[in-house]
Amino acid sequence: MFNVIALILALAGAVEESSAPRTVSELGNGVWQIRFGTPEAFTPNVFRECEPRWEALDRLPKDALIPFDLNGITGDIRASRTVVSIPCDEPDSHIYGFGLDPGAFDQKGLRKWLSVCASVVGKTGASHGPVPFYVSTRGYGIYVDTARVPFVHVARLARKDAPAREPSADQAALSTSEKELYAACKAQGTRQVVFDIPGNTSGIDVYVFAGPTVREAVQRFNLFAGGGCMPPLWGLGLKYRTHSNAMEEEVLRLAKSFREMKIPCDMFGLEPGWQTHAYSCSLAWSGERFPHHQAMVDQLWGMNFRVNLWEHAYIHPTSPLFAPLKDHSGEYLVWEGLVVDFPDPAASKLFADYHENELINKGISAFKADECDRQFIDDTTPFNYPYFTKFPSGIDGDQMTQLYGYLYQRSILSAFKKKGLRTWGDVRATTALAAPLPFNLYSDAYEFDQYLRQLVNASFCGLLWSPEVREAGTREETLNRIGMSSLAPQMCLNIWFMPHPIWEQYNRAKNEKHDLLPKEEQQAMAGRIRDIANLRMSLLPYLYACFFRYREEGLPPVRALVLEFPNDPGVYFIDDQYMYGDALMAAPFLRAAHERSVYFPADCAWIDFRTNKKYPGGTKQTVQGDPGDVPLFVKENSLLPVATPVERVARDTIFDLTVCVYGDTPAPMALIEDDGETYNYERGQFNRVILAWEKGKIMVTREGNFPETRYRINAWKKIQGE
Ligand code: GAL
Repeated sequence: MFNVIALILALAGAVEESSAPRTVSELGNGVWQIRFGTPEAFTPNVFRECEPRWEALDRLPKDALIPFDLNGITGDIRASRTVVSIPCDEPDSHIYGFGLDPGAFDQKGLRKWLSVCASVVGKTGASHGPVPFYVSTRGYGIYVDTARVPFVHVARLARKDAPAREPSADQAALSTSEKELYAACKAQGTRQVVFDIPGNTSGIDVYVFAGPTVREAVQRFNLFAGGGCMPPLWGLGLKYRTHSNAMEEEVLRLAKSFREMKIPCDMFGLEPGWQTHAYSCSLAWSGERFPHHQAMVDQLWGMNFRVNLWEHAYIHPTSPLFAPLKDHSGEYLVWEGLVVDFPDPAASKLFADYHENELINKGISAFKADECDRQFIDDTTPFNYPYFTKFPSGIDGDQMTQLYGYLYQRSILSAFKKKGLRTWGDVRATTALAAPLPFNLYSDAYEFDQYLRQLVNASFCGLLWSPEVREAGTREETLNRIGMSSLAPQMCLNIWFMPHPIWEQYNRAKNEKHDLLPKEEQQAMAGRIRDIANLRMSLLPYLYACFFRYREEGLPPVRALVLEFPNDPGVYFIDDQYMYGDALMAAPFLRAAHERSVYFPADCAWIDFRTNKKYPGGTKQTVQGDPGDVPLFVKENSLLPVATPVERVARDTIFDLTVCVYGDTPAPMALIEDDGETYNYERGQFNRVILAWEKGKIMVTREGNFPETRYRINAWKKIQGE
């Protein structure tokens, strides 16, 4: 538990006059809490899923320094807002974070509006997962624990009482060209990051996470949240979401065709049409479209498909949950539905119990929570309650909107946890400290470059992003999108608005008009999708091990290059390449491209996963390939276990593996062997299968208590690289 060394500091000379009284507590290794006044009752930390992993934090470097005095952090509680300022006198640093930002990567000099939001609003930082956390390349991270919507001035304000700085030569010789004038503006005000938090008038907790680099700062933040989530093994296979109006025969026909065509798939997602009423939700099966729904779910199970149901937490008057929740909901309705007062434990339990008894106990393995985000002001579809809405728990509508998706996840997860089952869901909004929650963020926005940037940005803040595929203008773009989705935390084809599967027609308008591709093209497309999904399946044991590392060490499976190579300035602006686990770097082709430039980080050489071509580190090169084949490079001196792809993951699936050895001195790696679906691993029921290769000598060591074998290691292959 919290090892609190509380130290009350009086307003010292170093602290600005306006700062509120504070308490500084060292909570654990490299984690400090600075409390100003009295924090609010509704924040992400108040609703955290689990305790921080202090013992794991203890394994990170000790005595890492923060490059400024913690007393320099100020909190000013004003009549309408709280203002938190953090020193940032770091002209040469880069700042990353603030959640699932679709627009910006290096955040220095920007103003962020950290609102949960259903649409992309430029570089403002409004997103499906805004997180008031950032890291600096000086090697630290800052988290401001709030469910308000902060404006953050990222090192762009200049206080008049700050000591004057020597004007730079450039500024002294200021001329009047537009470029020079604007350059001078940028050079000013780089001393602080300022969080302006309207609506907070009582106080706030600020957390500081030490490095020594951005990598450890992110690890500490995620471990403070409770460590990364552990998906069920089946969750890492392909998820296919069917047409909104699909009826049960159609779902079964499609499921069978996946097996006949041997396209790997582990989960079927049903969209709104499974319910009697969807906007808002009855959460009850439609007898018209799914007259034998239980038999259908059982049949899907028989074919080894899990079922995921679309919903949102706005409860329609016809729902069995309506009456019980009536007194546990907000003042306003959404689409006639109740807005669940999740902070009230009774409301959260009613919601969870209903899911457990009516759906999970009957074979449903996951849910997708739609429309739990905030609609942007110009959005005319009315899915938000007003932000002044009152709830019986006392939370106000503004805070509730920021927390709705996060609290939904916690409620649903509690139902699965009670049954000892893991889940792997989708959610359209979340916030800080979400790392332990096994849900992937998704969006209706669909810009390719933003989808890729979100994959990279998610890695700074404990979020999982699913760059789903819905349709595309060309065959090449369809395949490139599927390729990128296959190298994400979750692979998802969300074909909710097309009546025919994507391999029959990727063009939305044509698909809707049943104008399908010629048969040979359909087959060729299905074949490519099979190949791409097979590549993912071959990396499944590797990916599962990466998730375990996320849980144990806070290091996310998909990560920005700067988290891997924090000392290589060549990666500081790269938001279109990422690490996929420890050994692989992915550089997706954008849109319909089959060529792109790739930066190879300086630390080591890189070997093309498909061609074995070797690229020296520290270089930038143009690479080509077939659309759908995401350029993938293996870091030299890695071991990469590659499995024979399976079509689906069952409880007793055993993977046949070839361990590929790249370089002469590869680092050992550990696969994780367990039942893949319960929480028994938390009680030690798992094995580490440690793979090592030393001068041609192969070593496989199994450590742990799991009595079964999940991995059969059949071959080792030394790959030289040409
Ligand atoms: C959207 C959601 C889509 C799909 C659709 C169904 O709001 O983002 O993924 O589920 O609703 O109506």
